[in-house]
Parts: sequence; C-alpha cells; structure tokens
Amino acid sequence: MAELRTSIHGQWSSRWAFVLAATGSAVGLGNIWKFPYITGENGGGAFVLVYLLCIAVIGFPIMMAEIMLGRRGRQSPINTMYTLAIESGHSGQWKWLGWMGVVAGFLILSYYSVIAGWALAYIFRTAASTFNNVTPDGVSSIFNTFLADPESLLFWHTVFMVMTMLVVARGVSGGLEKAVKFLMPGLFLILLVLLGYAMSTGEFNRGLDFLFNPDFSRINQESVLIAMGHAFFTLSLGMGAIMVYGSYLPQNASIAGTTFLIVIADTAVALVAGMVIFPLVFANGLEPGAGPGLIFQTLPMAFGHMPGGAVFGTLFFILLAFAAWSSSISLIEPAVAWLVENHNMDRMQASVIMGIACWLTGLLTVFSFNLLADFTPLDMFESFKGKTLFDLLDFLTASIMLPLGGLAIAIFSVWVMGRDASRDELDMGDGLAYKLWRFLVRYITPVAVIIVFLHAIGMIDLAG
Ligand code: PFF
Repeated sequence: MAELRTSIHGQWSSRWAFVLAATGSAVGLGNIWKFPYITGENGGGAFVLVYLLCIAVIGFPIMMAEIMLGRRGRQSPINTMYTLAIESGHSGQWKWLGWMGVVAGFLILSYYSVIAGWALAYIFRTAASTFNNVTPDGVSSIFNTFLADPESLLFWHTVFMVMTMLVVARGVSGGLEKAVKFLMPGLFLILLVLLGYAMSTGEFNRGLDFLFNPDFSRINQESVLIAMGHAFFTLSLGMGAIMVYGSYLPQNASIAGTTFLIVIADTAVALVAGMVIFPLVFANGLEPGAGPGLIFQTLPMAFGHMPGGAVFGTLFFILLAFAAWSSSISLIEPAVAWLVENHNMDRMQASVIMGIACWLTGLLTVFSFNLLADFTPLDMFESFKGKTLFDLLDFLTASIMLPLGGLAIAIFSVWVMGRDASRDELDMGDGLAYKLWRFLVRYITPVAVIIVFLHAIGMIDLAG
C-alpha cells in the first residue's frame, strides 16, 4: 500500500457528507433545466433510454475513476494528475489534463451563473403572480424583455456569483459541507411536493408515456452525441469537480458504493424533474419541444393557469436555484484549490480572484442575449451557423471538453496508472466487480467516446 496523503484543504466529515456534496454537484441546471428540454427536443423515451445507457456504461465507471484519482492524489486536479503520473513513472505533462478540467469548470461556471441568475429572478416573478393567466405571447414577451436587458441579467449574475463565492471562501467543512447539508434536503423535499402537484394534474400518465415510451424513429446520431455529452455534464464528470471532491473523501469510504448512490440520486432527480414538468406542459396543451425556454416560458405559463400556481411555481424556481448553487461551488473548487496550493493564497483571496475573473467571463454570456445577440463568429462552419458566444461556450465545454476529459481520465486510470494502485485505492479486491470496472474503463468508454466524436466531427462540415 502506498503512503497515504492528506489534503491541506481538510476533508468531508463522513462518507455521507461526500455523497451529499457530490450529489449536490451532479444535480443542477443539467437535471432540471437541460434534461427535460433536450428530452423534449429529441422525442422523449428513446432519448431517455440512450441517456440511461450512457450513464450506466460510461458515467458510472468514469465517476469511480475520478473519485479514485482524487483520493489518491489528495490535491487540486492539476497537482493530482502531476503527482500520480510521476508516481507511476510517466510524464508530469499529464498535469495538462488537470488544467483542461480547471478551465472547463471556469468556463461552465461563467455561463451557469447567468442561467442560475434567471432562476433567481423567476423566484420573485412567480411569487409576485406575474404569470397569472398569462397568454403565450405574454410569457414570451416577459422572457424576451428580460433577456434583452443586460442590466437585469448582470444584476442576477452578480448575485449568484457572490452566493457561490461566499460558500467556496469558507472552505471544505465550513462552507461546502454546511451548504450541501442545508440545500440537498431542501431540494429533495421541494421535488417531492412538486411531484405530488404534478400527479394531481390529470395528465401525469401522458407525461410518463412521453418519458418512458421509446420511439426510435425520433432519435438520430446527433441525439446520441447529445445524450453522451449530457451524461458527462449531469454527473459533473470530465473536469475534475468530482476528482477534487474525491480528494476530500475519508480513506475508509467505499468508492463503488458512494458512486452508486450519487448516480442513482442524480438520475432519479432528472427523471422526477421530467415527471413534474411534462404533465404540467401537457395539462395546458403546450409543446414539450420548446427548447431552452421550456422552463422559463412554457412552465411559467402552465403554472399561471393552475390552482396554487404561484406558490408551486415559486417553489419550482427555488428548487432550480438550490440545485444550481450546490453545483456552482464544485465548478470553481478545482481552480480555488489550485490557487491555494500553488500561489500561497488563503481561500478568501483565491475565491475573490476566481469569482471576479469568472464574473467577467460571464459577461460574454450576458451579452449573448442582447448586445451581442447577432455576433455569431463561427458562421463559416455549417454546424455553428447562428450560434452565439453562449451557444459556443456551451458546445465547447459540454460536448467537447467534458467527453475529452473523460476519455483522458479513462486512459490514465487503466493504461497509465498501475493495476495495483487502482485496485488498492478502489479497495474491492480482484474479483468480478473490479474486472468489470477495468473492462468498461479500458475499452468501452474510450471506444464509445471516440465513435461519438468521429460522428460529431463528420457533422461539423465547412459551409459551402
Ligand atoms: N452536473 C451539473 C448539472 O447537471 O447541472 C453541472 C456541472 C457541475 C457540470 C459541475 C460539471 C461540473 F463539474
């Protein structure tokens, strides 16, 4: 057994605290905003099935690998990758994998914070009964006027970024752990209340049918790429968030067991969010394929026409904000941990610097909806035509950087790191479970990611 390291940042008080924190990272806008609308756009049940398959054969083993690397290295992803590579007799250049993760998390947070800001704004709008009996035109006009106003977006983006950095500045046990112990039970409770509400709409079964009845004619290659990218995004994989959380995991906790709980919780929240949203949509005769506006236009309209809609609508947006908050802290933790380790800063300084830098980068997203709405710099590529800076950031991070990061993590865990080291850290003997994990990470994940990538590259044709 290798000598055990300890993290200079402290550790979770128990394996449960880790499960809550990692579930908090995983459950976010991805589950409640993105999953329902991409499912709606990709035809429902068949897409859900592909997504579940990606979670099981790619997401699950990669999450185990990330936690394993994190706990073995016990540092920020950059230093962890460097240390583990040197330790296994390979090049320290593997630190660049850590860097890619830190940059991806930073870029994701820059736009995540803007969208989470919309959720904050909508808490107050629904509470003020703004959507009571609103017409379809009315609800779009409220949303479009909001997006067209850079000052409002900037205001809510700032509020959300400050909320995030306040937690991160307080450290692992005083900030992150305290926040998730409050946010996660709140989140589960609200979700259950909303599920009860959706069951009372009369269209619950139609919602279930849409989610679980597969119609394979409704999906194509692009849907598979989206499903795989989303499996990484929703489980927070491929960028070191789960790795850095793993670096605070007590040594005696089982990695396979905790991963199982996190994956089940994340998947359950996404499916239940779908079971809440689609019945409301159908009960009001609305379209499930409305795209990113599903939550901010279709849903408020549904709530606006239902008894108790203001109360339940407000609860819904509180749920969304809670989910986003417990994820955003994990997006910036790798960068903050690195600043503390390598630049001799305390957490407060590191959080302020990263918070300001990320807030500034978020301006690109803020302006993508108004001042720079027509700035679509990659129009020369057919597939990127009409994509704003926000669309491009989303595509670059969720569809390229995370799967690429996941691929590199898979390669590192089974081709670079020695078998003894991974078996020792995963602590599950040399039996079938370990062999299955190794097989999935060694062959299935890399092959799946590469195939999907090749298709994606095939889809990115040059215009004309
Ligand atoms: N998993 C989060 C969600 O589903 O919203 C997003 C996310 C958080 C992605 C942290 C990546 C990450 F490192």
